Amino acid sequence: MIGDYNNYLPEVSMSVTIGVPREVFPGEKRVATVPDVVEKVKKLGFGVVVESGAGDGANFSDDAYRAAGAEIAGNAAELWAKADMVFKVRGPTTDEVGLIREGQTLVSFIWPAQNPELMQQMAARKATVLAIDSLPRTLSRAQKMDALTSMAGVAGYRAVVEAANAFGRFFNGQITAAGKVPPAKVFIAGAGVAGLAAIGTAANLGAIVRANDTRAEVADQVKSLGGEFVKVDYEEEGSGGGGYAKVMSEGFQQAQREMYAKQAADVDIIITTALIPGKPAPKLITADMVKSMKAGSVIVDMAAEQGGNCELTEPGQAVVKHGVTIIGYTDLVSRLAKQSSTLYANNLLRLTEELCKTQKEKGDGTFDVNMEDDAIRGLTVIKDGEITWPPPPIKLAAPPPPKAAMPPPAPKGHGHGAGEPASAKSLAITFGLGALAFLFVGAYAPASFLSHFTVFVLACFVGYMVIWNVTPALHTPLMSVTNAISSIIAIGALIQIAPPLTGAAEGRADGLILGLAVLALALTAINMFGGFAVTRRMLAMFRK
Ligand code: NAI
Repeated sequence: MIGDYNNYLPEVSMSVTIGVPREVFPGEKRVATVPDVVEKVKKLGFGVVVESGAGDGANFSDDAYRAAGAEIAGNAAELWAKADMVFKVRGPTTDEVGLIREGQTLVSFIWPAQNPELMQQMAARKATVLAIDSLPRTLSRAQKMDALTSMAGVAGYRAVVEAANAFGRFFNGQITAAGKVPPAKVFIAGAGVAGLAAIGTAANLGAIVRANDTRAEVADQVKSLGGEFVKVDYEEEGSGGGGYAKVMSEGFQQAQREMYAKQAADVDIIITTALIPGKPAPKLITADMVKSMKAGSVIVDMAAEQGGNCELTEPGQAVVKHGVTIIGYTDLVSRLAKQSSTLYANNLLRLTEELCKTQKEKGDGTFDVNMEDDAIRGLTVIKDGEITWPPPPIKLAAPPPPKAAMPPPAPKGHGHGAGEPASAKSLAITFGLGALAFLFVGAYAPASFLSHFTVFVLACFVGYMVIWNVTPALHTPLMSVTNAISSIIAIGALIQIAPPLTGAAEGRADGLILGLAVLALALTAINMFGGFAVTRRMLAMFRK
């Protein structure tokens, strides 16, 4: 009977509320959403509640959140009670875990491999947890949600800024009335996301930038950002799969140490970012290398949290040893809180959009943790209280079926066709038919037509071959330029068919033709100039 009553109840809004608490980790200034993103999340139909003071460290006031349409909660308990889904930056503390309620969804950095206890505690709360650090990065669709990449990019930039701050000279070379200043030399160890951001930033500041990585495939990326890739004089493949490195052999490490020692003695700044996930940071800069550096040089050790790439790094500190400033800050991202919060908030917005894919109506404020979706499955480390980490390996798209084995070539004298590959056969037939058609046209058509026809056929052939050999990226500019050129041909054709202006009697008819020709010319001119203009703009995109 109760079921029957329910049929008559008014439909209750199931709109989900997203909560963003203030980060409690000491020194953490980031916040998981920013006012701009609040507006966009609201458009998806969600309510947003932000804890008072959550954005203070990143310069976003409560009023700014309010103006964007968020509700402000007075304290953490109120916020966690109101929210159905909570967005955080750092994994929850024990107190925060106590606030998680059954059925709630938490999205945050978790690092499940390093925090098994936290995982058990959260599972006991019967919640669903999406660890943003567990996103399968190999899926290109996941890039927009990749907070690890956006945070590492910010950290790489900030590492250069910290180095510039501690370094007593300009980065770029200058010739001034007061004398000549040589450019600073910067060496970057490890050209992953953070390393590449550091290379780009240092090169933009005008420094001479060199970089090394065990994965040889990054050499082109280093060059494209304005750096020089320095190779280790030892042949060994350094890729461990999935864009990560592997532990190198002792022989390689010895050769690498020799190269690094030479660089240390030569450069002014070293930024180290070398990391193999799940392993302690490789020790690349020894105490002796630090000693060999010029006084006033700077080392920024980005891997400080994983033990450091430099032997003398003190995590979280900036120290001066042997006249060299060694910076081991572990909060580089938080030191650029406004920027990193904005990027992180955008990553979470994209994730929210993915979670909304199953919304019945756009903007109905519901979401679904769809375990069939590879990206969402990878992220979900706890589903309704059940630990679902680690995820099963991603099934790659089925490889194309192997081509049918070619039949063996027919022995000579057995007639033709049976043993030949189909494509060669059809090509021969096409050519044969083409030649026959040509012969037929040649036999019956007037000689003047034949010469035009030959030029036409050859033009088709040359045009086809030219387009076939152009990279697909250049097809649009090519098409627009051919468009423009074909319009010029149209002008030629118009001139050809225009009758000579002779007697006055023909004047009216000629006037009509002339009028039409002028109109056609005007239209063709649009095509022609438009074609050239589009080509210019497209080609400009390829120029540096
Ligand atoms: P990533 O995995 O994208 O890059 C690491 C790079 O190091 C890879 O290209 C790898 O091939 C290379 N590498 C590994 N072993 C090497 C070796 N022996 N010699 C030369 N290169 C080697 O990592 P990502 O995201 O660029 O992060 C880099 C480091 O920065 C990590 O240690 C990360 O924890 C740290 N980080 C630090 C922050 C801070 O506030 N201090 C903030 C963000 C990241």
